[in-house]
Amino acid sequence: MEQEQLLALLQKMTLEEKIGQMVQLTPTFFSEDGEITGPMLEMGLNFEQLNSIGTVLGTHTKEEVINIQKNYLAQSRLKIPLMFMADVIHGYETIFPIPLAMASSFNPELVEKMAHLSAKEASAAGIHVTFSPMADLVRDARWGRVLESNGEDSYLSSKMTESYVKGYQGEGLINKQNIAACVKHFVGYGESQGGKDYNTVDISDVVLFQDHLPSFKAAIDAGAKLVMSSFNIVRGVPVTANRYLLTDVLRDKLNFEGIVISDWAAISELVQHRVADSKYSASKKAFEAGVEIDMMTDFYLHALPELVKSGEISEQKIDETVMRILELKNELGLFEDPYRGLMDQLSYEEDLRVESRSIATETLVLLKNQESILPIKPTDKIGLAGSKVNSRDTLGAWSWLGKIDESISIAEAFKDSELIIDVAEQIVDFDRFQTVDKVIIAVGETGSEAGEAASKTNLKLTLQDIETIKQIHQWNQNIILVVYAGRPLDLTDVEPFAKAILYAWFPGSQAGNAIVDVLTGRVNPSAKLAMSLPRSVGQMPLHYNHYSTGRPFNENNPTIRYMSRYLDVIEGPLYSFGHGLNYSEIELSAAEIINGVDSLTINYTLTNHSDIDGQEVVQLYIRDCTSEVVRPVRELKHFEKVSVDAHSTYQGSFDVQLVDLAYVHSDLTRYVDSGTFELFLGFDSYAPKLGEWEYKG
Ligand code: NOJ
Repeated sequence: MEQEQLLALLQKMTLEEKIGQMVQLTPTFFSEDGEITGPMLEMGLNFEQLNSIGTVLGTHTKEEVINIQKNYLAQSRLKIPLMFMADVIHGYETIFPIPLAMASSFNPELVEKMAHLSAKEASAAGIHVTFSPMADLVRDARWGRVLESNGEDSYLSSKMTESYVKGYQGEGLINKQNIAACVKHFVGYGESQGGKDYNTVDISDVVLFQDHLPSFKAAIDAGAKLVMSSFNIVRGVPVTANRYLLTDVLRDKLNFEGIVISDWAAISELVQHRVADSKYSASKKAFEAGVEIDMMTDFYLHALPELVKSGEISEQKIDETVMRILELKNELGLFEDPYRGLMDQLSYEEDLRVESRSIATETLVLLKNQESILPIKPTDKIGLAGSKVNSRDTLGAWSWLGKIDESISIAEAFKDSELIIDVAEQIVDFDRFQTVDKVIIAVGETGSEAGEAASKTNLKLTLQDIETIKQIHQWNQNIILVVYAGRPLDLTDVEPFAKAILYAWFPGSQAGNAIVDVLTGRVNPSAKLAMSLPRSVGQMPLHYNHYSTGRPFNENNPTIRYMSRYLDVIEGPLYSFGHGLNYSEIELSAAEIINGVDSLTINYTLTNHSDIDGQEVVQLYIRDCTSEVVRPVRELKHFEKVSVDAHSTYQGSFDVQLVDLAYVHSDLTRYVDSGTFELFLGFDSYAPKLGEWEYKG
């Protein structure tokens, strides 16, 4: 449709029809058969209202989408097609690794590919918009939603959110296999106090601008069509009613031109927050703040018409909102094809299970590998043990259409292998493992332990898992630990008992196969932690890029008292951000800094001394030696994942521009100060110092 036709359509719409476009409901509302019962009754909806609703969330099948759309178009006066949205977070039916694992690949192209494949599968089932990526910066592993994030570093997260958007939206929505991205949760949700979901957030503007906004900006700059506001408060006001954030920051500073949708029922939660006392005051606050689509309440539907009629809010602003929604529907081609792609049987070549397996291998982090116990050799006799060894619960949260019974456990993946001589899940007869060369023990979280509303105060493995590891260790010290988790766990109790640890996260539909690919060396691991693993839950929030303090911990004198440290735990993480091993021997050498006036270049060489082709992630960190506001002790500024074949070298370089060195000052503007910057280059966030660079300004 041309823009004029859209405007003409808008002019034909009644106020109620316009407001209907601004409401999102679940499919259950559309299953009423001529009689008002169930959800419609609870929300006080009539059929006229239902037939003007704009968007639907969470359909399960293509047939369901076709049915809902068909009935709706038959009933609705203006026949504006519904737009269908869903939480396609790490795959639709074929489940890929959780986002925290995807970020640990340190491979933005891999994330883009995963998002692109998810879009193909989801679009074939009638989905037009995904509520992904999640751009929330996270630093507290107690919060279950770290699973959905890109981890603790805002630069890494920005690279990843950009890749998700590119992957979902591809070259544009005109291609029916692409879907629109909704970046969420704007903003600050990752700072929920105590890691408790839906809890208070209180962050400074400097932290907000410096650390939290960049990954949203990256998604917006990449063209994300929607933004979802977050549940939490910032500066004392729920984001859902926060005009400063949703308008002054999001629209004016980040130049977002797309649609703002609330989170689930968040407009009604303004009443629970006690900043509103009715549908009217809540709707007025949310709308004036900038929320355009009301997800799953009747507040807008019931309150906005009266608020417009009484002159409390302007119809012109409603029109602007509705135009944005119609424009997105138009961009998706829904006016021409309300069943977008569903009737064309669009096909794709990729076998998603094969893709899921190979993508997952790039997300498994090898934390430890003493005596090169891994990879398993063809002559090794192996025992399998642990609570997760037969588990197919490998998908992780937000995999509502994934089929657990079709996922692959580690034992199944090893099934036909002659390597395996014993399998035991329970603590019985662990002396059997005396006779094997190595024991693989799979432990960790269950799928429901991480994700939304899955906060925890204890990050240790279960007592049963810990006991299994200790008992087996009495009989066999060649322990290879595989850990399933949706968050960083505290492995302090068991780490000394394992010669190797593979941190598997939740790898998705092909978990067992991908894990066995890495354990046997068919695939050389290459992932790096996107979040630090703690030594204790008491260290939360924990992140490598913490701010400088006046009493920094003194490594050379660790017990000195009046320093920023805990009395009862070794300072720092058990495994740090950026850490991850591989089976090759890759050395970083000949690194040099080439100074420019307004930029610098760092050249480096990687040499693979081993017989095994490998990949490394070269990481560049900087420290700003003096600044106007206190800055992180070091910050990731660039990384590159490179392949280095056996016995060969790779030459790489990073260009560092002034924009990379700029930071947010106390007046919230971002610019670079003259002065000295220290540079660190290596394979993790403890990378050694390479040198310094002086910017003269
Ligand atoms: C609530 C969650 O916070 C959000 O991430 C999700 O997209 C919506 N529900 C819709 O399911």
